[in-house]
Amino acid sequence: MAVLCREDTKRTTSILRGRTWQAHHILVLFVFVAGVARGQVRYSIPEEMTKGSVVGNIVQDLGLDAKRLKSGRARIFTEDSREYIGLNADKGTLVVKERIDREELCAQITPCSLHFQIILDNPMEFHRIDVEILDINDNAPVFNKKEIIFEISELAVPGARYSLDSAKDADVASNTLQSYTLQPNDHFTLKTITRPDNTKYAEMVLKTPLDREKNEEHKLLLTAYDGGNPQKSGTIRINVIVLDANDNAPAFTQSLYRVSVPENTSKGTIMLRVSATDADQGTNGEVMYSLSQSSDSISDLFDINADTGDIVVKGLIDFEKSKTYELNVEARDKGGLTDTSKVLIEVLDVNDNAPVISVISFSNPVPEDAAPETVIAILNVKDVDSEKNGRVKCSIVSHFPFKIKPSSSNLYSLVTDGILDREKESEYNITVTATDEGSPSLSTNKTMTLKISDVNDNAPLFPQKSYTAYIMENSSPGVSIFAVEAHDKDAGNNARVSYFLDEFSVNGVAATEYVSVSAESGVILAARSFDYEQIKEFHIRVRSQDGGSPPLSSNVSVKIVIQDLNDNSPQILYPVQTSGSLVAEMVPRTADVGYLVTKVVAVDVDSGQNAWLSYKLQKTTDRALFEVGAQNGEIRTIRQVTDKDAVKQKLTVIVEDNGQPSRSATVTLNVALADSFPEVLSEFTDFTHDKEYNDNLTFYLVLALAVVSFLFIVSIIAILSVKCYRWRRERMFNKSSGNLPVIPYYPPLYADVGGTGTLQHVYNYEVCRTTDSRKSDLKYNQPCSQSIISLDSAGTQTLTHRQMDKLILDESEKVSTFFSDYAQII
Ligand SMILES: *[C@@H]1O[C@H](CO)[C@@H](O)[C@H](O)[C@H]1NC(C)=O
Ligand SMILES: *[C@@H]1O[C@H](CO)[C@@H](O)[C@H](O)[C@H]1NC(C)=O
Repeated sequence: MAVLCREDTKRTTSILRGRTWQAHHILVLFVFVAGVARGQVRYSIPEEMTKGSVVGNIVQDLGLDAKRLKSGRARIFTEDSREYIGLNADKGTLVVKERIDREELCAQITPCSLHFQIILDNPMEFHRIDVEILDINDNAPVFNKKEIIFEISELAVPGARYSLDSAKDADVASNTLQSYTLQPNDHFTLKTITRPDNTKYAEMVLKTPLDREKNEEHKLLLTAYDGGNPQKSGTIRINVIVLDANDNAPAFTQSLYRVSVPENTSKGTIMLRVSATDADQGTNGEVMYSLSQSSDSISDLFDINADTGDIVVKGLIDFEKSKTYELNVEARDKGGLTDTSKVLIEVLDVNDNAPVISVISFSNPVPEDAAPETVIAILNVKDVDSEKNGRVKCSIVSHFPFKIKPSSSNLYSLVTDGILDREKESEYNITVTATDEGSPSLSTNKTMTLKISDVNDNAPLFPQKSYTAYIMENSSPGVSIFAVEAHDKDAGNNARVSYFLDEFSVNGVAATEYVSVSAESGVILAARSFDYEQIKEFHIRVRSQDGGSPPLSSNVSVKIVIQDLNDNSPQILYPVQTSGSLVAEMVPRTADVGYLVTKVVAVDVDSGQNAWLSYKLQKTTDRALFEVGAQNGEIRTIRQVTDKDAVKQKLTVIVEDNGQPSRSATVTLNVALADSFPEVLSEFTDFTHDKEYNDNLTFYLVLALAVVSFLFIVSIIAILSVKCYRWRRERMFNKSSGNLPVIPYYPPLYADVGGTGTLQHVYNYEVCRTTDSRKSDLKYNQPCSQSIISLDSAGTQTLTHRQMDKLILDESEKVSTFFSDYAQII
């Protein structure tokens, strides 16, 4: 609203009601020289009026005629270059010509006025015009920034002040900044302070403590108000960031942690994670974990990751050492605040220990005759694991004759469970297996080598029930006949076999007379020389005995067969050779061809081939007249006897056996070819033996008689001296009353050896039915009979006819008839 002010030069009055003139220095007074009309008008207009708006009517206000304006060519003179106000000469009004911004023109200076002159010519008139520009509230308070950021520690105490930026308002007076407000105001209040220059600023005062943990940012709005109408305002955002302070201690999520860990858990295994939270931020909320107040043993076993709180296994956890562990864990933030918690670790048993078998006692060796249930060993079996893992079962291989028996806790006895036989199994490797019940189960083996000691429970045994051994007759004494061997299954002394000849009589003679047995080797030795013709076989019994206590023995029968040697020459039984007498067979001259002259009868006490006799004519007067049957010894004529044939015929027959080498005997027989006995006699007178032979015989007989007499005398002397010696000994014995030296005992076996150098001159011999000889010349009806033939040392036959007859009768009926025929002839 424009206010018209009219001011005379004489009376300068303020026509602007309610306003005081504040600035004189910009009031321009135009004082003209005399004769020049002078006037002054003052107007007030608000700023920012639209162009063309009327400021004032100078015609009226200056009391000028409108025509005068035209004629005077009224115009505006201003010292400024810019004409804000123009003159409308037609209407005599001042109008706004350009936009007028008070703040631009005068800033904060008040009052703000435009000064110019209206100049009129003819006559010259100057009229001063003052246009005061009035402020309108066209500016709002403005802050320089859009946002202010405060970082305030949460520890800031109430009353702390924070100055805020000021707002600026270009307007003046009441249109300029008047007040501030702060929203919201739960933590802060606003205090507005007026500076000496009347400008105002605000401070933010902390009213209640901040807590970052609740709210780490506060957004506030500061508003500045001016006093215009309408009121204008400007705002700035205030961002309060609450800075963290270490006002919170870490806190574990649990005051006690429990965890179960199997023993032997590998190193580095994470068992458990403990966790502590810290409401603080940044380093204040960074928690470090540690094990506190833990013993060496614990810190050797466990470790904690300082950053994550992972509790890891560091050493070897052994259930058998400790079943539980208690750890103290501490959480510490960088600000030094701490919390503690406990971790209870329960160690779980793992079947990591195999049972241990220790032998407490062990009887080794055990005799094979040990009764069943004999305790052999006592074992202690332990497993340090607990529960099932420590429960143990013991076993052994089932086919052994042993069993294992639990006796008391952890003790087991190994006992026999059957018959032991060292001869079958002399040693057992008994493996005891102890197995626990863990899963998987562990087991331990213990092998004990048990030796079975020998008991003399086996007699020495001969492989055969009986043996047959052979010995040649006439072998020298001491010759080894055979060896028996018995085996004893026992061991050591129990198997040391000795051999003995059993007391046994062979044909009424002690066996020891025949053989001896080497005790050590079982070799049977001949104790004498054997004559097949006397004994063909005999049985002995050899006993074997071991060295056990008591000893065991067995016996075996040995049949000893004596084998024949051709050691006997054939013996001619007929015709009987006599030295003195003359025997002749008579053959009648009329005898036919094939006439049986006689039969040479010979025997050979050997057997078999050795007794197989053959007959040959060795020497004869007339070879063409006689022949002898090679097998039967029959002498027959082979041609007719003629008159030319001599009466005296001499035949020598040789009898040979078939042995190797063969032995033979010869017999000479006289044959008389005559028809009558006297004829024979006359012929045979010179048929005598040599006188020389008889003389020699006589000489030998005398010599023999002398020798026998000498021996007789020597014997008598020897007997007498022995008697005398004994008589003296007895006397000595009586005196010394029995302190006799022990006379060693020699078994009869040995005693005989020296005396067996020569054969006894009495032989037993058997004549047996000889089935193996060629078609027998002699047939004996008696199966076997024994005869005794006495032979003189020279081996010549001295049998008389009577003896001969007796002998022949004994031998065979057939032979006896044969001989009797001949006796008649003779
Ligand atoms: C027992 O064991 C030992 C040694 O290992 C061995 O020499 C022997 O032959 C074994 N005995 C048996 C009966 O197996
Ligand atoms: C010989 O052994 C048999 C059994 O083989 C026995 O019956 C007999 O009594 C024994 N004889 C002697 C003399 O020991």
